[in-house]
Amino acid sequence: MNKGLPEGFLWGGATAANQCEGAYLEGNKGLSTVDVIPAGKDRFPVMFGKLKMFECDKEHFYPSHEAIDFYHHYKEDIALFAEMGFKCFRMSLAWTRIFPNGDDIEPNEEGLKFYDEVFDECLKYGIEPLVTITHFDVPMNLVKTIGAWKSRKMVDYYERLCKVIFSRYKNKVKYWLTFNEINMVLHIPFVGAGLTFEAGENEEAVKYQVAHNQLIGSAKATKIAREISPEFKIGCMLAAGNTYANTSAPEDVWKSIEKDRENYFFIDVQSRGEYPNYAKKFFERNNISVKMEEGDKELLKNNTVDFISFSYYSSRLTSADPEVNKETAGNAFATLRNPYLKASEWGWQIDPLGLRITMNSIYDRYQKPIFIVENGLGAVDSPDENGYVEDDYRIEYLREHVKAMIDAVNEDGVELMGYTPWGCIDLVSASTGEMKKRYGFIYVDKDNEGKGTLKRSKKKSFYWYKNVIESNAEKL
Ligand code: BG6
Repeated sequence: MNKGLPEGFLWGGATAANQCEGAYLEGNKGLSTVDVIPAGKDRFPVMFGKLKMFECDKEHFYPSHEAIDFYHHYKEDIALFAEMGFKCFRMSLAWTRIFPNGDDIEPNEEGLKFYDEVFDECLKYGIEPLVTITHFDVPMNLVKTIGAWKSRKMVDYYERLCKVIFSRYKNKVKYWLTFNEINMVLHIPFVGAGLTFEAGENEEAVKYQVAHNQLIGSAKATKIAREISPEFKIGCMLAAGNTYANTSAPEDVWKSIEKDRENYFFIDVQSRGEYPNYAKKFFERNNISVKMEEGDKELLKNNTVDFISFSYYSSRLTSADPEVNKETAGNAFATLRNPYLKASEWGWQIDPLGLRITMNSIYDRYQKPIFIVENGLGAVDSPDENGYVEDDYRIEYLREHVKAMIDAVNEDGVELMGYTPWGCIDLVSASTGEMKKRYGFIYVDKDNEGKGTLKRSKKKSFYWYKNVIESNAEKL
């Protein structure tokens, strides 16, 4: 019989400021990268750093400007999370609410106060905040003036942000993640790090220099956190999902190892504290020289993370044969279509056992507690006149993933701290900018064009998840 998960397991849900807050200029907030990323055909070129659009215009629609207006609805939303029994709520801080230009000397009190209120609201219900310091947003001022994370100066501004938030919230927040999906800088560089590229620039070299700057930022954050509170637990965050080999040909297996290393690279540094040899060799082969400052190596070595968090939506598949490598969609990562898996309406392949495989690989590699901070099914919902959605497809997806999680814990002995499914309330899709791609237990009345009442209503999955939490997953 299913033994469920242990007492004290952190059940919850996950969001990010840029996809739910809205109020993009309220409370003295400055403009972030996400605020200039439009919906529609220009979206992907901007996200990839290929098309520079640094200001908003009247011709485009910008989904972040209102999003689901969590800024004004947070009390209602957190009350609904509490009703489901959440023990934990993953959210991010909008950097530009706290430092509107990124390089301001003093923080913006109104922004700080907003997050004080959000945390208080969580704590009122016994919900532990899990805070991503930066989730896909960079102050636009820093993009324009210093090229964002291309510049090492970013580390200082990030450090300034960390000092302020750690001191201010030390009695309210214990769990912190330094960067959301840090490996995304390789895939959607404007989103991950505010990067744009000039013609002829060696993009790969730039990305790895930026990765170094962020890894240094992450280590500094960890160092500061430890100085400010011994209670803090600091995690890294990876867009995870093991890469399978397309066939048993050794060349395919080797390719899959190389693909996984592209992602593990970041966590190897954050968790083991040094650049792995395979990365040094990769840099040599590709004429990439990462500029390090004095003290960087020690900083990385002495400030490794306490736990490893990751998002998991799907496994990936690769082949050494370029002919076979006809790529398809999937969480900003190119992957082959796996004939053994079904896919979502957006082509993201569904692989619950892949979650158990990924959990085991990560735990075996790092031997630190892990935290699944994103997982879920983006789907089209059809609400009835009361906003009720019969979302059995979502329940099915989540149930199978929770089962895989239980197996990894109870059968394999993986140490799992908690589970926060993505978009616990419907929010704007990071990749497509759509509202139509919904993940939530709570339906929000708003469409892709920005129309709707913003009314919240409970889906069938709301009641299902409540039951799961109540029974610690004995009832699935
Ligand atoms: C992760 C991101 O990559 O996937 C989230 O951390 C994002 O911000 C989530 O929303 C789901 O992706 P999408 O494109 O369906 O919103």
